[in-house]
Amino acid sequence: MVQINEVKDTQTRESRTAAHTHIKGLGLDEHGIAKKVEGGFVGQSDAREACGIIVDLIKSKRMSGKAILLAGAPGTGKTALALAISQELGPKVPFCPIVGSELFSAEIKKTAALMENFRRAIGLRIKETKEVYEGEVIELTPEEAENPLGGYGKTISHVIVGLKTAKGTKSLRLDPSIYESIQKERVSVGDVIYIEANTGSVKRVGRSDAYATEFDLEAEEYVPLPKGEVHKKKEIVQDVSLHDLDVANARPQGGQDVLSMMGQLLKPRKTEITDKLRSEVNKVVSKYIDQGVAELIPGVLFIDEVNMLDIECFTYLNRALESSIAPIVVLASNRGMTTIRGTDDDKKSPHGCPADLIDRLLIVRTLPYNQEEIKTIISKRAVLENLNVTPDALDKLSLHGINNSLRYALQLLAPAGVLSKTAGRSEITSDDIEECEILFLDSRRSIKILEETKGYL
Ligand SMILES: Nc1ncnc2c1ncn2[C@@H]1O[C@H](COP(=O)(O)OP(=O)(O)OP(=O)(O)O)[C@@H](O)[C@H]1O
Ligand SMILES: [Mg+2]
Repeated sequence: MVQINEVKDTQTRESRTAAHTHIKGLGLDEHGIAKKVEGGFVGQSDAREACGIIVDLIKSKRMSGKAILLAGAPGTGKTALALAISQELGPKVPFCPIVGSELFSAEIKKTAALMENFRRAIGLRIKETKEVYEGEVIELTPEEAENPLGGYGKTISHVIVGLKTAKGTKSLRLDPSIYESIQKERVSVGDVIYIEANTGSVKRVGRSDAYATEFDLEAEEYVPLPKGEVHKKKEIVQDVSLHDLDVANARPQGGQDVLSMMGQLLKPRKTEITDKLRSEVNKVVSKYIDQGVAELIPGVLFIDEVNMLDIECFTYLNRALESSIAPIVVLASNRGMTTIRGTDDDKKSPHGCPADLIDRLLIVRTLPYNQEEIKTIISKRAVLENLNVTPDALDKLSLHGINNSLRYALQLLAPAGVLSKTAGRSEITSDDIEECEILFLDSRRSIKILEETKGYL
């Protein structure tokens, strides 16, 4: 039995969303109407309802290949709306957020980077019936032997795994390579696992619920003792993105699970994701879709600050949207009329996007907030950051929200909290806010100073 390397889920990226932790969803009722304050969202009802419709269309798969533009002034909640869309879609629908400028790197071409992100946003659900050994681990003993190559060390010659189901128990004597994947999955006695007979890959399903009462610090998923025999056929559902498949097939070793299937067909060893590799992956994917083994799940590609893209990227984007497998593309821009990057002429275009792209978009606009809404947003953030704010201070902050930007007002919150704590108070007062105003400039004041001094701040 061979053990094949794991497919890494490349979807998990570091989240840049600390500023949006209070957003828990779009906050719509069952008719898709926005509640005034719900899901961490305040106001912005029309945009939230529009996003709700988009979520419905995505879920019912009637949205493929379309693109949406969230347009509005800075700090009006465009990025927050995009995150809320991803929360509403749930974890199984791929959501790939990028910022326009991310595409420009010295290592890979910008259109290649854009293509990569397109494929990150397209999911594939694969159902396979596999021969497995499944059960609760009742024994896990590595057997040691003399190192056949000599020396003093010992090596593991076999591993004995005892598995129990409702119907009976079975003791398996397995190859040492499987012991490694058992260790990788951190399997211990009392866990429910399955081992694939063909590839020897091990998957931990959860902890057996016989152990549910035991004191546990980490959140655990408890699962019932599997029914049926230990050795059986099992339907396994896997969610991967097309990019995962590209990467796994580009790696010389191939990968686990899906790739046991895909890998066989794409045996030639490649180390780079080329167009040819992608089209081969596509071919295999469409074959499996035809056979009913796999299902395509178009996800969402969110491109924040779309005005950072240049004309070459836009051309590519237009073409990619037309392809038969495309994710839903959500763009966001806080620009009005501005020049398109990469064009020489001074002609300005709306949101920095070419007219032919604008023509294809559904445009959702976000409106500036009034003072009451800003107050509610600030107090929500304050609760999350464990800060108490006096009504006076809240008034002052919300005025900043109106006069400067919501983001500036929110940013003052944390330093004001530090100041109040240093002064030994448990509440942020308007004095703290005033002190913060002096310490931290807002964009308007810094621009003014720059204009007056024609030099440094
Ligand atoms: N309606 C709202 N309810 C609650 N919080 C909001 C709302 N709108 C915005 N926020 C919060 O205000 C901050 C700024 O919003 P966000 O970053 O989404 O603005 P943006 O439109 O993306 O701005 P930019 O154009 O500068 O990127 C974030 O912390 C966001 O979570
Ligand atoms: Mg934003």
